[in-house]
Amino acid sequence: MADSFDVIVIGSGPGGYVCAIRAAQLGLKTACVERRATLGGTCLNIGCIPSKALLQSTENFEEATHHFADHGILIEGVKLDLAKMQARKADVVSANVKGVEFLFKKNKVAWLKGSGRITAPGRVDVDGTEYEAKHIVIATGSESIALPGVEVDEKAIVTSTGGLELDRVPGHLVVIGGGYIGLELGSVWKRLGAEVTVVEFLDRLVPGMDAEVARTFERVLGKQGMKFRLGTKVTGAARDGGKVRLTLEPAKGGAAETLEADVVLVAIGRRAYTEGLGLEGIGVGLDERGRVEVDAHYATNVPGIYAIGDVIAGPMLAHKAEEEGVALAERLAGQAGHVNYDVIPGVVYTWPEVASIGATEDQLKQQGVVYAVGKFPFTANGRARAMGSTDGFVKILADTATDRVLGAHIIGPDAGTLIAELATAMEFGASSEDVARTCHAHPSLSEAVKEAALAVEGRAIHI
Ligand code: FAD
Ligand code: NAI
Repeated sequence: MADSFDVIVIGSGPGGYVCAIRAAQLGLKTACVERRATLGGTCLNIGCIPSKALLQSTENFEEATHHFADHGILIEGVKLDLAKMQARKADVVSANVKGVEFLFKKNKVAWLKGSGRITAPGRVDVDGTEYEAKHIVIATGSESIALPGVEVDEKAIVTSTGGLELDRVPGHLVVIGGGYIGLELGSVWKRLGAEVTVVEFLDRLVPGMDAEVARTFERVLGKQGMKFRLGTKVTGAARDGGKVRLTLEPAKGGAAETLEADVVLVAIGRRAYTEGLGLEGIGVGLDERGRVEVDAHYATNVPGIYAIGDVIAGPMLAHKAEEEGVALAERLAGQAGHVNYDVIPGVVYTWPEVASIGATEDQLKQQGVVYAVGKFPFTANGRARAMGSTDGFVKILADTATDRVLGAHIIGPDAGTLIAELATAMEFGASSEDVARTCHAHPSLSEAVKEAALAVEGRAIHI
């Protein structure tokens, strides 16, 4: 036996590394197993961080090529250096993953390098060395879902991982799946000059988000030049020289047609990753979608084994995984960790951004809740006008009887930052009037949030 720990976390994504740091902060002897050459998981290496680096760079490119002139800034000969843009992205990733390594050292979390396998309750094998742990936390994350008939080679047919690494701007990028990844990476390559077609099975984008926001999102991205084939499924892909020929069919059935692409991005969702962990051998229960089953305190059916993050049910978001990591570490240290699943924001980092928290109108209708809607468009917000970014609106849903904020949905400039105020409000059980009576700086985008809150009672000032 090489060593023994209070806690061994398997996986160093935002769920795992945050859980490990919090456990160590609380005095538990903690190790984290990671097989990747760098810490930080999907999020830091091939997910949130590299995608946001490219979104930022391409947003700058789009501004320089299309919008600076609106401000009276005339520049000629703007050129793309994609290799430099990709190198910058790599630097951003490198700084972040090294940051986690520094935090591990600072908090005395041991990094066990290699693949973790649970050989028995309390025992983890890492590439042939066995370690002992009072508590084992599974935080092994997720992987892309494959589409039958569309074989990924990460060059012509890519998942998000290959889609972040392209060394040439494709002539025509076909994105399969109009969700988070499809629209973010579709935006990246659109801004750099690709023709982008999004093929989506459902008759709407971003399922799960507010339907009115989704319609506006489709219209705004359409205005930017993105093309959509909604209610359509891809049934096969054939390589033809340097091209990929996709076969499409209406989702409800009908005549097939073909669509030619230079690159195809498959982004139809992610699924829990538990391969090689040895869960079958020790009897850890999985649900019908292969996710590790846990109780309200992240415990599996095997004593001493817990799971958090993308590998369990719930939104596959980094901040959700982090909250679970903290809550579990606190529980393992004898405290009372808790996650409020009603107040987890979701943000699509396109331009404009889309941000959502709490219930949608459809959900409230289904639940039979009587609610009031307060809406305010960015066209009526002075700062948005000054920025030249007036697409979208803020929508706040409040309980008619109590005025408590039940949900908020924003499409517009910096929506992902604006939603944080409403997250705090909801966490405190605020009413829309609480938000409306709070003084917001002028001229700021956040005034649109205040005005939407005022609009719940029909008393917005600036519209
Ligand atoms: P992961 O981050 O997947 O980490 C799991 C780790 O476990 C991996 O490093 C893996 O190597 C390791 N591992 C697995 N099995 C073993 C084993 N047996 N032994 C050792 N190590 C193992 N979310 C957001 O909130 N905001 C975003 O902007 C965002 N952007 C995204 C963009 C893309 C392109 C993608 C793909 C995802 C994005 N996500 C985003 C989702 C986010 O990345 C995940 O929700 C998050 O990473 C989940 O964290 P996790 O800790 O559960 O698992
Ligand atoms: P997604 O679930 O967001 O979107 C998948 C889309 O594909 C859905 O619209 C779905 O209806 C569609 N689809 C499913 N099967 C299809 C088929 N056969 N043909 C055509 N369309 C099909 O999944 P995505 O974009 O792959 O991202 C995975 C997860 O990663 C997200 O759900 C999110 O949790 C996380 N993520 C978060 C980001 C953020 O927070 N900004 C950014 C990127 C990813």
